[in-house]
Amino acid sequence: MDVRLFVVLFLWYFSYDALCTPPLPVVMWHGMGDCCCNPLSLGRIKTIIENNAPGIYVNSLKIGSSIVEDIENGFFLNANKQVEEVCKQVANDPELKDGYNALGFSQGGQFLRAVAQRCPSPPMLNLVTFGGQHQGIYGLPHCGYPNKWCNYIRELLTYGAYWSWVQNDLVQAEYWHDPLNEEEYRNRSVFLADVNNERVKNKTYIKNLLKLKNFVMVKFNNDTIVEPVETEWFGFYRPGQSTEVITLQDSELYVEDRLGLRQMDKLGKLRFLAVDGNHLQFSEDWFVENIVDKYLK
Ligand SMILES: *[C@@H]1O[C@H](CO)[C@@H](O)[C@H](O)[C@H]1NC(C)=O
Ligand SMILES: *[C@@H]1O[C@H](CO)[C@@H](O)[C@H](O)[C@H]1NC(C)=O
Ligand SMILES: *[C@@H]1O[C@H](CO)[C@@H](O)[C@H](O)[C@H]1NC(C)=O
Repeated sequence: MDVRLFVVLFLWYFSYDALCTPPLPVVMWHGMGDCCCNPLSLGRIKTIIENNAPGIYVNSLKIGSSIVEDIENGFFLNANKQVEEVCKQVANDPELKDGYNALGFSQGGQFLRAVAQRCPSPPMLNLVTFGGQHQGIYGLPHCGYPNKWCNYIRELLTYGAYWSWVQNDLVQAEYWHDPLNEEEYRNRSVFLADVNNERVKNKTYIKNLLKLKNFVMVKFNNDTIVEPVETEWFGFYRPGQSTEVITLQDSELYVEDRLGLRQMDKLGKLRFLAVDGNHLQFSEDWFVENIVDKYLK
């Protein structure tokens, strides 16, 4: 063979590999009242990602066998069961076998964090949560859209978030965090108190969370749906009252490093992004520049 041709082929082979290896796949988990494939929400996000990262594979999770079920499950299927179901979906998707990046929207944010903590294989590399409620909520002033269940859910949360049937059947109660009754929250919260290592310090959770390359938390500065908004950056009310909000760095969770977040912070793995706008409102330009280009390519 002509040596020049050989060199050309050789170079082509390596540059081909570099140029044509598609970016790591993306898994997305929608928020409350939404579903996998709405063309105005996650469907649109999927298209933006595909347009900006050619060849990328995006799996927008559907919990249940239909769109209607997917929406209902966001309210009424125990978060632990949802996480278990997603662990199976992720493990059974051959496209994800070498790892993936994860985007969680609203409650999908804390649920995907639970996936990272409970199901380390295949590996999640970057986790980005948009308006996630990592320390829970203590208030749900609006559902953000007209919804027949919204008022009913708000009443249940106000009066009986820790009643066992409410805990087991109402997703939003499973991340209800009453700062006036921290002990009751720790004892009874079936989901959040567990994934935040409030009851026992589960070393597996710490080890798995530390495997993330980046844990990016996006907070919406003008959020009128989530209370308190600081929960989107893992902050919350100072225990015992419900007006003063403290940051993650001032919380016991961090100081005692119960979940490995302090270690992650020291390693530069925690990213705190803020965007002006109400819950889950951001522009395409912002999303491409701050998320797609930085974490998905
Ligand atoms: C810790 O988490 C792992 C993964 O979910 C689980 O298998 C284990 O039972 C948990 N341990 C405790 C003490 O809760
Ligand atoms: C929480 O659980 C502990 C241990 O089981 C118990 O002693 C305590 O009374 C419980 N507190 C509340 C408020 O449920
Ligand atoms: C949104 O919040 C930011 C930061 O608190 C503030 O500077 C901005 O004026 C707010 N925008 C609106 C429209 O309220």
